[in-house]
Amino acid sequence: MNTINVAFVGCGGIADHYLSVYRDLNFVEMVSCVDASLERAELAAAKLADNSLGKPKPRATTEFSDALKAEVDLVVINTPNHLHREQTLAAFEAGKHVLLQKPVAANLADAEAIAFAAEQAKQRGLVSGLYLSYFDQPLMHDLKAMIEADWFGDIAHLYARLMHRGGLAVSQQVLSGQANWRASLAETGGGCFIQLAVHYVHLFKWMMNARVVRVIAMAKNQHCPGIEGEDLACAILEFSNGALATIDMAWNTAGEQLSVHGTRGACEYISNQTLMLDSLAGAFDGHVVHYTGQSSQASPAAPGAAATQQLSTVIAPPLGDRKNPFNQHRLFLEALRDGGEPFVSIASGVDDLRVVAAVYESARTGQAIQL
Ligand SMILES: NC(=O)c1ccc[n+]([C@@H]2O[C@H](COP(=O)([O-])OP(=O)(O)OC[C@H]3O[C@@H](n4cnc5c(N)ncnc54)[C@H](O)[C@@H]3O)[C@@H](O)[C@H]2O)c1
Repeated sequence: MNTINVAFVGCGGIADHYLSVYRDLNFVEMVSCVDASLERAELAAAKLADNSLGKPKPRATTEFSDALKAEVDLVVINTPNHLHREQTLAAFEAGKHVLLQKPVAANLADAEAIAFAAEQAKQRGLVSGLYLSYFDQPLMHDLKAMIEADWFGDIAHLYARLMHRGGLAVSQQVLSGQANWRASLAETGGGCFIQLAVHYVHLFKWMMNARVVRVIAMAKNQHCPGIEGEDLACAILEFSNGALATIDMAWNTAGEQLSVHGTRGACEYISNQTLMLDSLAGAFDGHVVHYTGQSSQASPAAPGAAATQQLSTVIAPPLGDRKNPFNQHRLFLEALRDGGEPFVSIASGVDDLRVVAAVYESARTGQAIQL
């Protein structure tokens, strides 16, 4: 395939962050911008028309059927979770390749139906993938390589905190009479946990090449009236390699952290910028990790007095940076053009939703759930 003709379905929120990748790649032609809001579709089409490659302005429409027209090769689905099943299946039915936003769907049954359809579509030569934005970050790829190189030793614990105050804004919106799919349990599939934790659940499984075997969790809504799902959820996950992870997600406060702790080394990445490294394994040179430090563990100090951690600043590339070697949109488009495999399969995202469902069941019943 020399030129890939693309339709965007859902041109609002997140789609706007990576529209420029499609605009600026010379082997991609945007032909259709579909959104329930004509204004949003037109805004996206206007942004795409403003390009230096002489590409024509795509159509802007509220009609989903426009994305299924004959000349469309790839449908990129950026709509709310509850629409993923219907739109993905329709795209496969029409013979289109699909790139789907995370989470795969608002519930496990829909996700399984999508994965089944994706497998059948593959038999007909159709390529599909799941978009998980954290794979854009070179750091995530370094962490996996560090785990594989035994830089951490045996992984004991991982930590993820992803909290933003988006729920407070949605709550105010809903209380003032405006609808928002994130306030609906049926349309979102839960609250902050399904929306935010799938990133880390997926990353941790991928980094360690392990699956989740048991979860125990608490979830509640404390500050976001009008939102049916939780605004705070804390889960402990046990993995098949024995590691434990604590995953704390929220829509009512802010903060982000990712940590990996092993018997030889530890890494803490705080607020998307501060990276602290310490390992007995010695130097590691990756894409953004350049560890030369001497471990505090070589000369153990009193707890809290380790001063030899190597500190650096690592900023994630913007989602619209097509030159980032890990940009997931460009990589998917290149795989489609060149006949390669997409980096993240839809099926792998279904397993994330099994973990999410177990977390919700644990929070509801107060019991640990085996997977
Ligand atoms: N890190 C990430 O990659 C990330 C971040 C945010 C959201 N998401 C995912 O992206 C998807 C969309 O989230 P968002 O934040 O952009 O939501 P949003 O509400 O900001 O935007 C959704 C867009 O879809 C449009 N839409 C609604 N119904 C439609 C329909 N039937 N047909 C066509 N368009 C329709 C809306 O008008 C809106 O423009 C969700 O699945 C979400 O989980 C991923």
